[in-house]
This record gives sequence, C-alpha cells and structure tokens, in this order.
Amino acid sequence: MKIAIASDHAGFGLKGEILKFLESRNIRTIDLGTYSEESVDYPDYAEKVADALTDGRADKGILVCGTGIGMSVSANKKKGIVAALIYSDYTAEMAAKHNRANVITLGARTMQKEDAIRYIDIWMNTPFEGGRHEKRVRKVLDIEKEQKEK
Ligand code: RB5
Repeated sequence: MKIAIASDHAGFGLKGEILKFLESRNIRTIDLGTYSEESVDYPDYAEKVADALTDGRADKGILVCGTGIGMSVSANKKKGIVAALIYSDYTAEMAAKHNRANVITLGARTMQKEDAIRYIDIWMNTPFEGGRHEKRVRKVLDIEKEQKEK
C-alpha cells in the first residue's frame, strides 16, 4: 500500500509526525507538500492527493489542515474520492468499515498528535464491510456521475 499525504501550513507539523509513524511501519508514502509553515491554500493540496489516487500513484490519502474541514470538502469535489473527516476512534473505524473512505482528513488544531496517529492506524487496519455498504458507497459515487451528465 502506498499513501499520499499533504497538508496546508496549519497541518505541516502534524504531517511530519504522521510521516514518521508511517515510515516506522514500513508503509510507502508520497509527501505532496506543503513543506513549511508558510501560508498556503488547502484546496491546492487536497487536489494533489486526489490526483495521486486517480492516476494510480497512491492507493489511499491523508490530508491535514487546521480543522480537517477544508481538506475534506475540497477532496470530495474530485471524482472517485471519498474523503472522511476523522475525529475519534469510532469515526476512523467507520470511515473504513462503512464508507470505504480512500482519503481521511484530520485537524491539526483539533486533536493531539497521539490521537491522530491512532485514528490513522485504525483506518488503515479496518477492512470495508461490503454488503449493504457497497450499494451505499456506489450511490455516493453515482451522485457525482449524475452531476457530470447534466
Ligand atoms: C488555515 O488557517 C485554516 O483555515 C485551514 O487550515 C483549515 O482549517 C480550513 O479548513
């Protein structure tokens, strides 16, 4: 598995901690920026991770901003992306189990580093349940298809 990760300036510090954690688990990563605390716009970085998934450079994505909200709303504009804002063990588990989220977003200003890392661990290690959830996730993706056809 390869994980693409990016942040804005607010998420830069936490992104570094997440990269250290993933590397300690021998998980391959692509760091798509930002590379300093200089102010940047979160949609630019959400798009970079979404594109890495779309063109096959990565299997999953992690995005970090101040709250995780900006990254979540931005990444979800991209075709094929199901980006879930994570803020607890339970949402981390459900994002994988029920929503098959291929991207998770985290708020560097809303959680402790240790919690963020635990959420990521849970999300990465929880399988999609399938069954009735398969149909629901497909319906989510169908919404974007219908939008494009109009
Ligand atoms: C940046 O100040 C902040 O607005 C951004 O990181 C994010 O929280 C937006 O949703």
